[in-house]
Amino acid sequence: MKKIIITGCNGQLGRAINQHYAGTTEYELVNTDVAELDITNVDAVMNLVSAVKPVAIVNCAAHTAVDACEVQHDSAYRINAIGPRNLSIAATRNHAKMIHISTDYVFPGNGTQPYTEFDAVGPNSMYGKTKLAGEEFVKTFSNDYIILRTAWLYGDGKNFAKTMLALAEKNDVIKVVNDQLGTPTSAKELANAIGALLPTDNYGTFHATCEGSCSWADFAKEIFRLAGKGTMVQGISTAEFNSPAARPAYSILDNYMLRLTGGYQFAQWEDALTEYMRTI
Ligand SMILES: NC(=O)c1ccc[n+]([C@@H]2O[C@H](COP(=O)([O-])OP(=O)(O)OC[C@H]3O[C@@H](n4cnc5c(N)ncnc54)[C@H](OP(=O)(O)O)[C@@H]3O)[C@@H](O)[C@H]2O)c1
Repeated sequence: MKKIIITGCNGQLGRAINQHYAGTTEYELVNTDVAELDITNVDAVMNLVSAVKPVAIVNCAAHTAVDACEVQHDSAYRINAIGPRNLSIAATRNHAKMIHISTDYVFPGNGTQPYTEFDAVGPNSMYGKTKLAGEEFVKTFSNDYIILRTAWLYGDGKNFAKTMLALAEKNDVIKVVNDQLGTPTSAKELANAIGALLPTDNYGTFHATCEGSCSWADFAKEIFRLAGKGTMVQGISTAEFNSPAARPAYSILDNYMLRLTGGYQFAQWEDALTEYMRTI
């Protein structure tokens, strides 16, 4: 069987990829998280990849705590930039494809129409800067790479939907930011896109979010509607919420490259959320 190394396998995307490939007879997943493979350790990465000889590496590992990245610069750069650099070098040396996940936070977030892969980047947060550095290392050191920029990801793990449902247990009214626009994206849909691209020669940088867009407040309202909760959502501004890291006000991504190349058609965000809510 062809082997695929998964890093960060205990995270939301890592779990969704395992679900996606459950029962496959074509691929064997070699699952690793930080205990089995710390992607910041170049020697460990080189040793594992040359021992496994995978056809592809899917890097699901990241420092995803956006506010913590504002103070933990070194670990954010190690995990989000040096890690993908190490994996890319190992992938190239062992003739494996490198599949890496990035974020809408590479954009400045002051746009007025959905960002395509051909628009200029310019991150405002340390998380965004470290993820952009990771993208650049992947492009420099990989031969065959696929970078998927996703956003507002939810799946099996700690996520916005679960946070909202937990808050609703104790509150009748919840304040949620209503002046940031983006697209909630299910880890399942992102895993489907990875599964579609992995066996092909369709390389490059792809925007990879569900279709449509909303604010965090709209997202929360839809979660409560689907959960049958009467919880009220009170819209507040980003300034009122006052989080340590700057968040893009407008971070809607256009899956333009996927459309141009026929790579994968993502579901509408409301449909993907409906499917997810049946599982929790
Ligand atoms: N979540 C979102 O809203 C979002 C939005 C846009 C893009 N993305 C990107 O999508 C990808 C998947 O995100 P996710 O939500 O699935 O992330 P996640 O749930 O936070 O999972 C990341 C996993 O990586 C592990 N990890 C951390 N440092 C590591 C290291 N040095 N070596 C190996 N593994 C390490 C984490 O372990 P610990 O938990 O022990 O640290 C965790 O199991 C990431 O690249 C992320 O940047 C996510």
